[in-house]
Amino acid sequence: MAIVNNKNLITLSSKNSSYQMLISPMGHVLHTYYGSRIADSDDMSYSIAYVDRGNSGNPYDAGADRTYSLDTLPQEFSFQGGGDYRITCLEVQNSDGVFCADLRYKSHSISKGKYSIPNLPASYQDGDNDPCETLTITLSDTVLNIEVDLLYSIFEEKDIITRAVRVKNLGSEALNIHKIYSACLDIMGGEHDLIMFHGKHGEERIPDRIAIGRSCHTVSSGRGHSSHHENPFVIVCDQNANEDFGEAYGMGFVYSGNFAAQVQKDAFQVTRMTMGINSDMFILPLNPGEVFDAPETVMSYSAAGLTRLSHNFHSFIRHNICRGKFKLTRRPVLINNWEATYFDFDGEKIEKIARTASELGVEMFVLDDGWFGNRDLDDKALGDWFVNEEKLGCTMGELAKKVNDAGMKFGLWFEPEMINENSQLFRNHPDWAFKTPDRNPITGRSQLVLDFSRKEVVDEVFSMMTKILDTANIEYVKWDFNRSIADVFSATASVQNRGVILHNFVLGTYDLAERLNTRYPDMYIEGCCGGGGRFDMGMMYYTPQIWCSDNTDAIERLRIQYGTSFGYPTSVVGSHVSAVPNHQTGRLTSINTRGVVAMSGSFGYELDLGLLNEDEKKEVTLQIETFKKYWDVIHNGKYYRLTNPISNTEYCAWLFVADDKSKALLNLVKTHKHFSEGRIYIPFKGLDPQKQYLIEDGNVLTGQTFSGAALMGRGLYLDYDMNEYDATQIYITEVK
Ligand code: DGJ
Repeated sequence: MAIVNNKNLITLSSKNSSYQMLISPMGHVLHTYYGSRIADSDDMSYSIAYVDRGNSGNPYDAGADRTYSLDTLPQEFSFQGGGDYRITCLEVQNSDGVFCADLRYKSHSISKGKYSIPNLPASYQDGDNDPCETLTITLSDTVLNIEVDLLYSIFEEKDIITRAVRVKNLGSEALNIHKIYSACLDIMGGEHDLIMFHGKHGEERIPDRIAIGRSCHTVSSGRGHSSHHENPFVIVCDQNANEDFGEAYGMGFVYSGNFAAQVQKDAFQVTRMTMGINSDMFILPLNPGEVFDAPETVMSYSAAGLTRLSHNFHSFIRHNICRGKFKLTRRPVLINNWEATYFDFDGEKIEKIARTASELGVEMFVLDDGWFGNRDLDDKALGDWFVNEEKLGCTMGELAKKVNDAGMKFGLWFEPEMINENSQLFRNHPDWAFKTPDRNPITGRSQLVLDFSRKEVVDEVFSMMTKILDTANIEYVKWDFNRSIADVFSATASVQNRGVILHNFVLGTYDLAERLNTRYPDMYIEGCCGGGGRFDMGMMYYTPQIWCSDNTDAIERLRIQYGTSFGYPTSVVGSHVSAVPNHQTGRLTSINTRGVVAMSGSFGYELDLGLLNEDEKKEVTLQIETFKKYWDVIHNGKYYRLTNPISNTEYCAWLFVADDKSKALLNLVKTHKHFSEGRIYIPFKGLDPQKQYLIEDGNVLTGQTFSGAALMGRGLYLDYDMNEYDATQIYITEVK
């Protein structure tokens, strides 16, 4: 039993962690514990401090007891109106304009399996060998006439708890929800750091670690998508936690729109961690009888540092978030023509690039932007999803066939939510683009955003896309999204519904993604948002791979892929070898280094391979063979960050170890070369100390055998002849 109810205590336990709550006599659901596994019989409510604190008010029914205050008690779901002045998860306004709620426990139920959420992505149970139970706690406010369901699912083997919230208006008056978060975690005691993943276009998810002070820290996006700038994944950890040591709590949001993660340490040593839809520009009307489902938050706890926390999320995303035929299988090694041609191509050029790539072992060709309407520059034709046969010299079906005849699968780029003013679609439906009345719109990359909160708009885009996807053998779609949303006005939304347009926009995206997945179950979709601007678990539910960044420089990618690895597995990281000098930075790196970095992801190429010399071409073929040999340990193994490329400017190393510890692949890039360097030792992690391992490849000690203990104790040393930007892969296997 993962969920045990003992009188007024409910305990959720997984392999290594437990989570406990207490239903107080006054009907508040108080949080008592989230940490290492405890016994089902342990009552952790002793850790709650009941103290009379000045200016922390008391519920009226507490009577003379001034020690009972929601302002100081740890809670499962804080709400405005109860006297808690810390971060709240719910703010409701009634039809008289009054802000107030008073949520009390009504009932709870425990069931086998995982909840789902209507119209939203949510994690799921991965077959019968993935034990999972769900707790539903129903809170009610008898004055507002609302019920709030707090949903918790615990995945026993994964050390993961998911949370979601459902609000029901059971009364006869219309309400407005101004804020609804999906998770609240009160961590008692300790000094903590917050790790966030900031970025920008071309530099996504760079970790930033700060001490949590008394002010409220907010990580959020108001751009209409989860964004390059912030990511809906955050960590709160002990101030002395590192990769292998210390307590760490992670929260990730299964949502692709505006989000907020807020963290605040109160006056009494409790750190509150929350996550949900960003309440800026969000007002949700909830009419009598209506129900609102807030998106899912995924939480995990590690008592053994950040690496364990990442492993928990990696496994969960891979098995319980991603779906489809390509969820666990090796994805075809692809070549994308974007950096090879940009808009300057025709059918012949494309076929030539595809044929050369096929001869070298590449398995799929992806035709990027520029194949539709009169799109020969990035300021026109978005929305005109019909094939420019004049440019291609043939139909899309014929082009796909030519690529198939060359021995490759064929994939195609779309940017479904976008429209250019210079397009037929805009001329026919100017009101389909977001634009505020009486003002000129904000443009981004010369384009506007389609109003996906309207079903007829999604229907039309779906219909245009299927006309192409139905008539050509297209086995892959790259789904792009190249600007943030600025003008939030829908021509058809009523005044009351204008505060929920952005959320409905996200639902429109999910609707299109679900329809495509249903209609083409064998096709796989790669997410993209000008690189990694929508890199979140919401999109991963529909697109098991996301283009990680428009920055393809191998050295820059080290930091981007390092930061990304805290929350997300390598299999979702789209990563390509591109040309040198690199188009974003001008940097020169060898084809080997570019290959080593790119294959720590879902591997591909993005250049004209015909322009390489013969040695480089041989290297490409070898890289593809290498990826096919190692992909299993890269995608299914455990990922270890061996260095931090932000603080260590000498070299960057990372490691994959098979779950059964029978093999491992160490990757290393020398980022700075000194004259007369000392020996640099790289200790392994995660091996079996008792096993003997053969150094199969990639090091001066190749051919020799060492114990796991030796490899983790001292490790291997770097070859002195490695130059700046050189890379190596060291492969070890168990000697049986
Ligand atoms: C941005 C993407 O990230 C690129 O890979 C490419 O597809 C361009 N858009 C095309 O416009």
